Amino acid sequence: MVELSGRIVLVRVDFNVPMDGSTVMDDARIKVPVATVKDLQNKGAKVVLMSHMGKAAGKSSKVQSLRQLIPIIEKIYGNSVSFFEEYLNENTRSLIEEVSRDNLILLENLRFYPQEESCDLDFAKKLASLGDFFVNEAFSVSHRKHASVFGIPQFLPSDLGMNFKREIKNVEDFFGHTSGKRMAIIGGSKLPTKIKLLKRLVTKVDKLALGGGIAGAFLSYLKDDPSEVFDFKEYESDVKEIVDNAKKFGCELIVPTDFSALISAKNDRAIMRSENSNTTVFDIGPDSVKLLEDHIAGSDMVLWNGPVGLFERSPFEFGTKAIAEFIAERTQNHQLISIIGGGDTGFAMKKFNVADKMTCISTAGGAFLNYVENEDCPALEAIRISHSKFG
Ligand code: 3PG
Repeated sequence: MVELSGRIVLVRVDFNVPMDGSTVMDDARIKVPVATVKDLQNKGAKVVLMSHMGKAAGKSSKVQSLRQLIPIIEKIYGNSVSFFEEYLNENTRSLIEEVSRDNLILLENLRFYPQEESCDLDFAKKLASLGDFFVNEAFSVSHRKHASVFGIPQFLPSDLGMNFKREIKNVEDFFGHTSGKRMAIIGGSKLPTKIKLLKRLVTKVDKLALGGGIAGAFLSYLKDDPSEVFDFKEYESDVKEIVDNAKKFGCELIVPTDFSALISAKNDRAIMRSENSNTTVFDIGPDSVKLLEDHIAGSDMVLWNGPVGLFERSPFEFGTKAIAEFIAERTQNHQLISIIGGGDTGFAMKKFNVADKMTCISTAGGAFLNYVENEDCPALEAIRISHSKFG
């Protein structure tokens, strides 16, 4: 165990929170590192938080400055925040040393420096020189090969934060759980972003249910009716591979049997048995919900990524809400282990007030997908390098 008392610990967090003007719309990501930070402080460490916010590299608008988060960080952590707008100067380390251990130190948005996203190792080395130990508590950015994620651990003894470890354990437990029935529900609108995920899952799970826009491609393929409605031709060989592997690996593919379509500008909906080119399908129908519920009831573990319909728009929240409530109820009754991941899916769980009723909800979007696809990521690779260098 590394002695942390009196040491400076750099903690990579993900404070990339949704903002409405200067208001934080969801503070979940600010809360994620609390347990890790408190643990480090209890061990006598001085904590330096570093994060990105927004996508643009280079000097950006005020909206992306982490300065605006100071009040909410102070409220959540109960510590005063010392903010460092510049931190690559010769004297930054000594300025950090002067800050009281009772304070949290927050560095300005890492992405103000283009070297962050280009994974410049000199930049990473400079950041590393500000501390004695590095903790990555930003699972949600673990898929990025960026300087703070991939570079810093190469120059400092490092470890993963508590939430990061929990996130990867959830996925590992899902794939390692071979004694009961495992089901994956994959929705969302963009088939290309889910192909790799589906290819892996189909070889691992007992049941794979498809919803959202991506179900359309499979429906067309399975019906041998490659309608123009579904723009999947480009991915036909991927869909074929997934369907073939479902047979080969004994995975039951579950596709919707009815749909909810928009029939007027007033958001009236019609339930249909099959899709056609005259309507726009935005959700699964009640029979499909029942079908999914039956399969969920026959499963011990469910991994869900991607809403099954346009849940943001009433009445098309029906399918996603019903499934969310069913999973939540079975989870609460200890009949099911539920792992929910992905930005939209997590948001839907909050909207339907079931977020705290699931076994676990990932704080990550792309990183969750990446980890389910690979069970590896640049952040873990970097920690392995750190362990081999520094123990
Ligand atoms: C996220 O919001 O998914 C993470 O903060 C990563 O952000 P990025 O997609 O801009 O790298």
